[in-house]
Amino acid sequence: MGALTTRPGEGLELRQGHALAGLLGRPPPCLRLADLPTPVERAAWLDRGDVEVWLKRDDRSSEIYGGGKVRKLEWLLANPPFNGRGPIASIGGIGSHHLVALALYLRGLDRRLHALTFEQVVTPHVEANLATLASLGVEFWHARTRAGLGLAWLAYKTWRRPAEPGVMMAPGASTGLGGFGFVGAGLELAAQIRAGLLPKPGTIYITGGSAGSSAGLAVGLALAEVGAHLRIVSAVEAWSFNGLLYRRMIRQIVATLAVHGLDPARLRGGADRLLADAGVTWSIDHTQVGPGYAVPTDAGRAAVAFAGDHGIKLETTYTGKCLAGLSADLAAGAAIRGPVLLWNTHGCNDLTRWQSVGWERRLPGKLRARLPALRGG
Ligand SMILES: Cc1ncc(COP(=O)(O)O)c(C=O)c1O
Repeated sequence: MGALTTRPGEGLELRQGHALAGLLGRPPPCLRLADLPTPVERAAWLDRGDVEVWLKRDDRSSEIYGGGKVRKLEWLLANPPFNGRGPIASIGGIGSHHLVALALYLRGLDRRLHALTFEQVVTPHVEANLATLASLGVEFWHARTRAGLGLAWLAYKTWRRPAEPGVMMAPGASTGLGGFGFVGAGLELAAQIRAGLLPKPGTIYITGGSAGSSAGLAVGLALAEVGAHLRIVSAVEAWSFNGLLYRRMIRQIVATLAVHGLDPARLRGGADRLLADAGVTWSIDHTQVGPGYAVPTDAGRAAVAFAGDHGIKLETTYTGKCLAGLSADLAAGAAIRGPVLLWNTHGCNDLTRWQSVGWERRLPGKLRARLPALRGG
């Protein structure tokens, strides 16, 4: 496969015998970036009535930068078109975890990130992510809003075209192949259930943005024949993540599995059938989005504080809203099939070691000028 640029000593090596190897006739390579499996643990502090709650600790998936993103990057960075030596371009908010993960893992490969960014409310957590991006030398093409990204893209392709343009990676690393990271996560959970580390969950709470994590998980659980309900607490508005887009992501992942030699007999009835036969169902909850993507809500803040009291670090854009969704369902006495597993997708590593003094000076002027107003938002 040619151009894989791993560096011994940086922990960037191929994962041998990865979770999907046994399922695929032609398994693609996968980098070993994450410490897997991540632990599962009881979270009795979240129990309500007779519903028992467990946690999947993807926050422990790496000492460099954990959470869910590293699971996707293991696949994408090992394969074309992302396994070369040049820069990668991708899209996200100025506090995007995806961009932070990408910048950190590209750093280990001596490669650069070009970030097409849009504004979001600057909480201390978002500021830490932005400071990390700027300090790592990420180059920005900035738009104020998501709608304005088209212009940033045009600038990237034309009048502010970089000397060496990057290969474009989908937002959130959510592609068919990126989704393999969470297919593997579903298989990993199945193995933990079989090993008796946790009971089989009736419902799994996971947050959703670009859909690759929750879609991959649904496929992985189906392949492992672990029937469960996925309750996807959306961090984004319904126009940006909904049942249609979710189904499309599932189909994309399943099609990519087929390309890599998944037994066609398993796919005879298509992706919907694969899930249905295994008893994997899903629903999307948009009630926690609040005023918009990445705008902190009271419920999200309260969830972050509550989890913090129990030693779990969440953030207000994704995982706080996910816990708020779980808490709201439990409080409303909704018919939740237990036990519940809450998937913590947040990489809460301390990023201060990457941050340099004066990082603001590396931001595009118009973003630097807007920071005080965004902090007040
Ligand atoms: C912490 C965190 N959890 C979950 C998600 C959502 O995952 P996905 O984009 O695959 O739906 C994201 C990012 O996009 C994230 O940053």
